[in-house]
Amino acid sequence: MKEISIQRMTPAHLPQVAELSVATEQVKFVGTMEEILVNIDDTVHPHVIMDSDTVVGFFLIDTQYGHSYDFADSAALGLRAFFIDHRQQGNGYAKRAVLALKAFLETAYPGFEQIYLTVNCKNPAARHCYQQGGFTDTHELYLGGAAGPQHIMRMAL
Ligand SMILES: CC(C)(COP(=O)(O)OP(=O)(O)OC[C@H]1O[C@@H](n2cnc3c(N)ncnc32)[C@H](O)[C@@H]1OP(=O)(O)O)[C@@H](O)C(=O)NCCC(=O)NCCS
Repeated sequence: MKEISIQRMTPAHLPQVAELSVATEQVKFVGTMEEILVNIDDTVHPHVIMDSDTVVGFFLIDTQYGHSYDFADSAALGLRAFFIDHRQQGNGYAKRAVLALKAFLETAYPGFEQIYLTVNCKNPAARHCYQQGGFTDTHELYLGGAAGPQHIMRMAL
């Protein structure tokens, strides 16, 4: 299984990040890199998943998630746009990254008690990854997504 590290994205990562993409049939779950990057502001922070010096994946941490979604507590982060580059999928990177997330967030975002995400009901692979990494299904559905109903998952920090 490959070792990974999680880092806050910096301008130095941008050339590699700009080259990341998911498979065509996966775009409905996260959007294109261009669509993802426009979400970034002072409350929504980009992160990279690294194997040594290579960027293999990406995600956003949304510090306003608890205020944006009724199902989340106010002291909650949101995990958004989590993906592994399509050329790097199937190597265990997502599983490793989700497992590393709790320790990373406890250091980087002290004061937040939970992290939430939503995952499309037609995306069992991602749901499986999140469960392996410590997220639990709330057994509630979020119906506001453009690509159909989504499971709401949560992990305590
Ligand atoms: C879902 C995703 C993050 C998985 O990344 P990955 O690095 O290929 O996953 P891993 O290699 O770490 O696999 C982790 C587990 O998921 C399973 N898995 C991964 N892809 C799978 C697939 N397409 N179908 C079924 N199971 C799959 C693996 O078998 C493994 O389970 P196991 O340990 O029980 O064998 C990746 O496919 C992706 O980026 N998809 C597009 C974006 C997306 O859907 N993001 C989630 C938005 S909520």
